[in-house]
Amino acid sequence: MPLHLAVTACDVPTGEYDVIAIPFVATNGEFAPLASIRALTELIGVSVSLDADYATRHRFEAKAGQSIVLSKGPGRPTLLLVGMGERPTAEQWRAVGAQVVRLAQGTRALLLVEGSDTATEAAAIGGLLASYRFEIRAKASPQGLEHLELLGATPSSVEVAGAIAAAVSRARDFVNQVPSTMTPTRLADEAATFLAEAPRVSVEVWDERRIGDERLGGLLGVAKGSQEAPRLVKASYEPAVPSDTHVVLVGKGITFDSGGLSLKSANGMTTMKTDMTGAAVVLSLMSALAALNVAVRVTAIAPMAENMPSGSALKPGDVLIPRSGTTIEVLNTDAEGRLILADGLALAVEESPDLIVDVATLTGAAVVALGTGVGALLSNSDGAAQAFGEAAERSGEKLWRLPLVEEYESHITSEIADIKNTGAAGEAGTISAALFLQHFVDGRPWVHLDIAGPGRSEKNSGIYAKGGTAFSLMTILEYLRSAT
Ligand code: BES
Ligand code: MN
Ligand code: ZN
Repeated sequence: MPLHLAVTACDVPTGEYDVIAIPFVATNGEFAPLASIRALTELIGVSVSLDADYATRHRFEAKAGQSIVLSKGPGRPTLLLVGMGERPTAEQWRAVGAQVVRLAQGTRALLLVEGSDTATEAAAIGGLLASYRFEIRAKASPQGLEHLELLGATPSSVEVAGAIAAAVSRARDFVNQVPSTMTPTRLADEAATFLAEAPRVSVEVWDERRIGDERLGGLLGVAKGSQEAPRLVKASYEPAVPSDTHVVLVGKGITFDSGGLSLKSANGMTTMKTDMTGAAVVLSLMSALAALNVAVRVTAIAPMAENMPSGSALKPGDVLIPRSGTTIEVLNTDAEGRLILADGLALAVEESPDLIVDVATLTGAAVVALGTGVGALLSNSDGAAQAFGEAAERSGEKLWRLPLVEEYESHITSEIADIKNTGAAGEAGTISAALFLQHFVDGRPWVHLDIAGPGRSEKNSGIYAKGGTAFSLMTILEYLRSAT
């Protein structure tokens, strides 16, 4: 659903506001509005001198996350004082943008910002993403804030934020849409329609026949049990100035994961419409590359299938031959993500890229290891891993690197095929899944993001709404922005 909040930049206030939000910093136990914002407050004609008793009573110390509401009487805008802690970081600005949208009563708010474009971009992203909703109700919920003006921001930073937020919001919509609607065919069509509008991006959709002709045995194997035909979408971005550097992204697109014949529990299945987050992320982010002036070539490859049990379903014990020819013994049909990614990665390798990045809601073990707040990163390249870690710092999406433990190759050794699709029971499931994928990257620099935990949020909080988060999209964009 399109974001109903409009964020704009301004140098002077442009009208009447329901809410005026003023960031406060805390220094040595004292707190005050951000230095140059003090001058701006004169401009808008509101006093933000804060009675110390009042602040103490409300326990406001300008710590990050704290806020206090000052009502200036009927007909006057409410003042929302938001704490920034000691030193406002991009993460703080993102949180403050989100906080204003979540706390503001009314339709129009002004937020005073200052600092670099990075800071104001973060505030705009925070506001926009906090306004995201996906609901299918007979009666729509109230809309909330409609306009957020950022006093002191540059229009270009707000424009960039808009492109990023639009990509995140589109990815969340793909994820949140119900599984019987968002089938592989539909996902492919909607992604292609969406990207047809994206500057410098071209799109190809492969149907079942083409997938067969291209010998994508992993994808065909997973799709076999479903009434829904598989798809593969390939989108390519060319920078304005031609570049030799090429990054290929691969996203897992399981539109519903029942587990197949290795059926999940009723509970385990309830959130499995989100199992196409990787595909939604890599495809949606392509729409923002031109606005971000990304200087390298980028290709996104998204294999899509539904994992279902049926008379025609893949059976534990079957052996699949994916595009690369490495044979795979399937011992658990619920480890389907790696089967379709084997084909996606093989296609990526054929582009001879400088870096391959795959994104997948791949293992429950990643949720056990890192919870829902942190994604797992595994890589065969220390340089790429570090660059991704830095990009994640900037985007605010937390990633933690896990090792590709060579000795655990034995966990995926098969008695009859080259490898098997399960690891050792109860041991390092995220690592053995990554080791499996590594068999298909042909030694190319590669980063694997297992976002099974943070791909979904259980609450409306900060920049997240209940449901799909599109986690890792902003980090990949941050990485690509700095790539040359
Ligand atoms: N899509 C799931 C992983 C998942 C679990 C994502 C929970 C989000 C939340 C994946 O296809 C899966 O079922 N993995 C199995 C692999 C196992 C059978 C080797 C798992 O993690 O249990
Ligand atoms: Mn599964
Ligand atoms: Zn899955």
